[in-house]
Amino acid sequence: MAREIWSETEEFLSGLLCSSDPDLTRTIYVSEQENLPFNHISALQGKQICLLARMVGARRILEVGSLGGYSAQWLAKALPPDGRLITIENNPVHAIVAADNIRAAGLADRVEVRVGNAADQLALLLAEKADPFDFFFIDADEHNNVTYFESCIQLSRPGSIIVFDNVVRSGEVRNLNTPNAAVRATQRVLELVGSSERVDGVVFQTVGQRGHDGMLVARVQ
Ligand SMILES: C[S@@+](CC[C@H](N)C(=O)[O-])C[C@H]1O[C@@H](n2cnc3c(N)ncnc32)[C@H](O)[C@@H]1O
Repeated sequence: MAREIWSETEEFLSGLLCSSDPDLTRTIYVSEQENLPFNHISALQGKQICLLARMVGARRILEVGSLGGYSAQWLAKALPPDGRLITIENNPVHAIVAADNIRAAGLADRVEVRVGNAADQLALLLAEKADPFDFFFIDADEHNNVTYFESCIQLSRPGSIIVFDNVVRSGEVRNLNTPNAAVRATQRVLELVGSSERVDGVVFQTVGQRGHDGMLVARVQ
């Protein structure tokens, strides 16, 4: 019952606050047709990360976990015309669908889909001495979240924002004996943020498409 109320409220708020966008609708349709998993963030969550990125004037954004390019398009909406988004995806089929969807949305000039394992791609960006990113959105294999967190810090500047999706997992995050390696990695990231002088952060609990979850929003000091 509670879940129904949350989902209906999410839909109601989306209807009020997220105007329909044919490129995003097309992305969901194409992703379904291509049998991609139904794992993209909700429209309300897309708008949340878009507005967060816009609030900090992000010009360079890094995403881990492209899937079909849905969240990448929300993030790209926050960029100025000369801004840049790199989105990393290790599944070549997902990467092709994401790149096609991004091209169809007219965003190929500012969004690059990099195909490969995220840890390797992040190491490559560090080796390339990439300019710091203003905003990070991490939404992939959560058991690697500690690696992603440490790489983000190295690729950041003071004031950068790091967002991790799915940090609550219906409350599983509070289970310190969880056997789930993904949740344990997220718990470690939360501990690092909570104890770090370099980063400050908070979790916004969310409802999304799959029930109770949350996003960690951290700021590099
Ligand atoms: C939850 S989906 C991303 C959803 C997307 N951010 C959205 O909301 O539209 C996670 C994606 O991360 C990709 N992924 C998983 N492990 C990865 C890894 N080690 N490196 C890069 N991508 C990975 C998966 O193939 C999948 O497409």
